[in-house]
Amino acid sequence: MLFGKTIVVTGAASGIGARTAEVCAQNGAEVIAVDLRAPKVGVAGFVEGDLSSQAGIDAIVRQLPRRFDALCNVAGLSGAPGAAPTVAVNFYGLRALSEAAAPLICEAGAVVNVASIAGYGWRANLNRAKSMVAVAGFPDVAAVLKEHSVAEAEGYPLSKELLLLWTQLAAHQPAFKARGIRVVSVSPGPVETPILGQFRQVFGDARVDSDIAAAGRAGNPSDVAPVVAFLCSDGARWINGTNIAADGGLEAAVNAQVLGF
Ligand SMILES: NC(=O)c1ccc[n+]([C@@H]2O[C@H](COP(=O)([O-])OP(=O)(O)OC[C@H]3O[C@@H](n4cnc5c(N)ncnc54)[C@H](O)[C@@H]3O)[C@@H](O)[C@H]2O)c1
Repeated sequence: MLFGKTIVVTGAASGIGARTAEVCAQNGAEVIAVDLRAPKVGVAGFVEGDLSSQAGIDAIVRQLPRRFDALCNVAGLSGAPGAAPTVAVNFYGLRALSEAAAPLICEAGAVVNVASIAGYGWRANLNRAKSMVAVAGFPDVAAVLKEHSVAEAEGYPLSKELLLLWTQLAAHQPAFKARGIRVVSVSPGPVETPILGQFRQVFGDARVDSDIAAAGRAGNPSDVAPVVAFLCSDGARWINGTNIAADGGLEAAVNAQVLGF
C-alpha cells in the first residue's frame, strides 16, 4: 500500500505513533521517526526533536529528508503537563511543523493529524477556536490562553478542537492545496497507551471508564495505526480536509444516549 513512499511519523517512540511507524514500514514505506526519545521499532531514520518550541521545530525540519510523501502528526501530550505545553505541542507545534515541512512534501502527498474525539466541541466553541487558530506562527502560548480565558483543565480538549478546525482550513491553504497535498485527521477514542493513565488523572476515572464502556472496550494502537497508514496511501486520494473517527463506535453510542435514538 505504501511501497516507495517515505513517511515521517512524529510520536513514534510510543503508543499510536510507534504502531503507525511499524504498520507503514510493513506496508512498504521508508519511515523517518521524530520524537523526544528513540523509537523501539525498526525505522529507516530517527530525528530526535522537540515539538514544543519554534527552535525545536526548526531543528527537526533541518534534519528531515528533502522530499517525502506524508507527514503523520501523532505526537501529543495529555494535558497533565499543563494547558500551555499541551496546546503548544498538540496544536501550535504540530501546525508549525506541518507548514515548515509542506515544501518538502511531494505533490499528491498527505498530512495526517491524530486529533481526538475530545476535540469534537470545536463547533460549540467555534469563535474561540477561530480566534486561536488565527494567531499565526508559534506564539507565546501561555499569553494566548490567558487572552482567551482558557481554564487549565481545558488544555487537552482545546488543543484538539484547534487541530480539527485547522485540518479543514489547511486543506484549502495554498501551501497544501496548490500542490495537491491532502490534510486530514483521525480521531481515536480511548486507546491503551501510556497517555491513557494520564487522561485518568486529568479527566477522572469515571469519564474514561464510561467512554470505554460506551465503545465496548478500550482500543489499542493497532485499532488506529492502519487508519493513519491508509490515509497516507494513494487509495485515500479523495479524502481531504475531513476527520475520520477510529473510536469503536463511541460517538454513535454517545449520540444515541444524548439524542435518544
Ligand atoms: N491514547 C488515547 O487514548 C488517545 C485518544 C485520542 C487521541 N490520542 C492522541 O494520539 C496521539 C498519540 O498518543 P498515544 O496514545 O500514542 O500517547 P503516548 O504517550 O504513548 O505517545 C506520545 C508520544 O509523543 C511524544 N511526544 C510528546 N511530546 C513531544 C514533543 N514535545 N516533541 C516530540 N515528541 C513528543 C512522546 O515522547 C511519545 O512518544 C496523541 O496526539 C494523543 O492526543 C490518544
